[in-house]
Order: sequence, then C-alpha cells, then structure tokens
Amino acid sequence: MSSNPTSLPKSKELPHHIAIIMDGNGRWAKKRALNRIKGHQEGAESVRVIVRACREIGVKILTLYAFSTENWRRPQYEIKSLMALLKRFLKSERQEMLENNIRLNAIGQIERLPEDVQAVLNETIAATQHNRGMLLNLALSYGSRDEIVEAAQKVALDVQKGALEPGDITPGLFSEYLYTKGMPDPDLLIRTSGEIRISNFLLWQIAYSEIYVTDPLWPDFRKEALLEAIRDYRTRERRFGMTGEQKAKSCT
Ligand code: IPE
Ligand code: IPE
Ligand code: MG
Repeated sequence: MSSNPTSLPKSKELPHHIAIIMDGNGRWAKKRALNRIKGHQEGAESVRVIVRACREIGVKILTLYAFSTENWRRPQYEIKSLMALLKRFLKSERQEMLENNIRLNAIGQIERLPEDVQAVLNETIAATQHNRGMLLNLALSYGSRDEIVEAAQKVALDVQKGALEPGDITPGLFSEYLYTKGMPDPDLLIRTSGEIRISNFLLWQIAYSEIYVTDPLWPDFRKEALLEAIRDYRTRERRFGMTGEQKAKSCT
C-alpha cells in the first residue's frame, strides 16, 4: 500500500459502504472497434485500481456488480469469456487481497457459476476470511428480486417450523435473510456509463443510498473518477426523512 494514498482527507463523511454498477465495457470496446471481450479485460483493470483505491482511502465495504442474473442471457462466448476472466482475476488478486487485509465475499446465485469458478472463488473466500481491512463483495449471478424472493421463502419456512411468528418479521429481521446479512446498507451507489437505472441491483439495500451516475465507461473509471464521486457524496445532505434543521441538530 502506498504511503501517500490520496488527497482526500479521512472524514466521518467518507462512505462506509460503496456499491458500484460497473457498466460500459462493451461500449468502451465498440468505440475502439474492438471485441467486447477486450472491454471486459480493460474493465478488470479498473476493478483492480478501484479495489486498491478504496482500501487506501479507508472504505470499509465495496460491493461490485460483476454479473447479473440477466447477464446469463448474453451470447455463450461472452459468458464463457467473462467466467474465464473472473477466474483469472480471483487467482491473480488473491495475494494482493491477503497483503492488504481484504476479505472477499460473494453475493448471488453462486451455485449457477461454473464449478471451476466456484472452486477458485471459495478458495479465495476461505483464504481471506480473517481479513478485516475491507470487505470486497462481488455480486455474481446476482439479481435483487431473486434475493428478496429467496429471503421470503426462508422466512416462510421459519414461520412454518414455528421458529418465527409472522409478527416478528420486521425490516431488520428481513435484512438478515438477504445475501448482505450483517452488512450496513450502501451509503453511495455509483453507476458508470451514464444510464440512470438500477438493473436489479440491491433493491432493498439502496433504500437510502446516495446515487451517483457518471458518464465515463467502466474501463475509464479509475482513481480520480472515484475520488470525484466521493467528493460529490460528501456534499450531499442525507436527511433520512427529517427536515434539514433536525438533521443539522442531530449532527451537533
Ligand atoms: C458491464 O459492461 C459488464 C457486465 C455487465 C458483465 P457491459 O458489458 O454491460 O457494457 P455495455 O453496457 O454493453 O457497454
Ligand atoms: C448491469 O449492467 C449489470 C452489471 C454491471 C454486472 P447491464 O449492462 O447488464 O445492465 P442493463 O442490461 O443495461 O440494464
Ligand atoms: Mg451494460
């Protein structure tokens, strides 16, 4: 880790949890008349840079949307290339995660991933499980509606077993049935490539996240772009339903 990490002061307003919809790899490649896969390769480089930068800045949780349940509809060759890239990334970054005290976790329907990818993923998760510097959450084969439905099914089973009463089901309890169990919600949600949509990402968890949509394509989103997003976040007034005056009082 470099000794002069960033020009950003460490502040209590630094987002504790950042979630990113990493979009635009295909357009990045198209602009250069390259194959989409080249865009994904360059996007993987942005992942490396952004993970490192978040760790340096002191972000505690980084959740990256890497592959959605809807992305299974893409051409087979693209899915295969993405899976191969993911496997390569996990292998090449394991050492860096260990050195920088980063814990890896995966959220999504992991059982749908190819077995060799699952194996490397599970090895890396196990190898980094005691790290506490930052949690890197990879959303893989992730779909928020599926996550919520699965949680509802598990809650229903617990009610059926008699372990829960319907009246026990509160938002707090329900959160404990999601893949993000035990994690605070994202403070900042970033989407690259300019499209203003959520694409089935963390629908429950972003109820009060600050949303930042930015034009650069994901392969062009590097440290300075991240710092800009954080600067923007730090200008936001998060009121959580209260009046601005109430909020100001509660902060003094
Ligand atoms: C994001 O880039 C990566 C994945 C969804 C896997 P895209 O591949 O969606 O890039 P665009 O949106 O086509 O430019
Ligand atoms: C969202 O990007 C999913 C990921 C970044 C992994 P998409 O490119 O799949 O989203 P849509 O299809 O444009 O909504
Ligand atoms: Mg896209």
